[in-house]
Amino acid sequence: MCGTYYGHRPTSPDLAHFPRQRWLAAVRHVLTTVPSDALDYGDPGGVPELREELAGYLRRVRAADVRPENLVIVGGVAQGLSLVLHVLGGRQRGLRLAVEDPTSHRQVPLLRRAGAQLVPVPVDGEGLDVRRLSGEAALVTPAHQYPTGVVLSPGRRAALVEWAHAGGRFVLEDDYDAELRFDRDPVGCLQGLAPDRVILSGSVSKALAPGLRLGWVAAPSELAEAVRRARGELDLGSPVIDQYALAHFLRTGGYDKHLRRMRREYRRRRDALVEALAEELPRVRVGGIEAGLHLYLELPEGWPELRFVRAAQDLGLSAEPVGPMRELPGPAAVVAGFARLPAHRAVEVVRRLKVHMSGQNVD
Ligand SMILES: Cc1ncc(COP(=O)(O)O)c(C=O)c1O
Repeated sequence: MCGTYYGHRPTSPDLAHFPRQRWLAAVRHVLTTVPSDALDYGDPGGVPELREELAGYLRRVRAADVRPENLVIVGGVAQGLSLVLHVLGGRQRGLRLAVEDPTSHRQVPLLRRAGAQLVPVPVDGEGLDVRRLSGEAALVTPAHQYPTGVVLSPGRRAALVEWAHAGGRFVLEDDYDAELRFDRDPVGCLQGLAPDRVILSGSVSKALAPGLRLGWVAAPSELAEAVRRARGELDLGSPVIDQYALAHFLRTGGYDKHLRRMRREYRRRRDALVEALAEELPRVRVGGIEAGLHLYLELPEGWPELRFVRAAQDLGLSAEPVGPMRELPGPAAVVAGFARLPAHRAVEVVRRLKVHMSGQNVD
């Protein structure tokens, strides 16, 4: 039943909790209700029912300023970014794209392949340092910066929007981890502040499963038709049965219900890991705890990232080094994912990690 499995990332959800029965019910509903013609090549922008549901959802949950005609359904944020850069690159060759530093190293080849020249901009405790921005467009993760986990401050949000307006520039907003905010309501997306300058991308990869490859791009009216047309020219659009199923899942409240349940569970797991780290490894600085499925851990002087990562992985704590995510200098740090670490295992794992790192002058 199963082909090659590429391994769990620290940022992936706990897929054992994928709502199989409810998804099955949604697919069954689709297959018993949609007319045969609905299975033909459709609108490359996505099935109208899903765009309608998503527009309502993004307005309600993300304070986005979105109408169905601004939306293009894509195979995840990765594809959405490729598509948008393809369109922007058609207007401006060698587009200079400001990216956060550190950033998601997996996205770098994708951005380069789409023709962008990357300009690293440092991230500090308030998020992207907007004062040091340069380039013709910027890619940001304001809800939960990857990998540092910083939430972009209100001042920086306003400054970023001003930068975009002042130069007629576009901001590509990766709405990363937006729905997994634990301690208070999610911060609204940047797009809601400047819908004519911000291109919002999101997906169900965290809320449901990355393997669904389902996401969206909400583009300003000026760009939306070009993005839809590019999707049609490149590959004719996304699988329609999954799109109808997601529309049904959203309409019947299944998506919200699943997220509510998972937020509670992930919060428990996060709290357990944060407490265990504070107790056992107090010299490790823990950041990015407000949202998402990973912690950003700054390591004490002299601790090699790779040694920590290998030990964590061996103990079942999914981790990745931050070094490869940087162009600019920064402290040794790792990303540690808690989504699949049951709360009752946190203390044991961190204690064993402490023993493993003890040769590195831990206390
Ligand atoms: C910061 C960030 N955004 C988005 C993505 C891609 O997400 P999706 O599954 O929606 O394509 C990744 C995956 O590597 C990521 O690290």
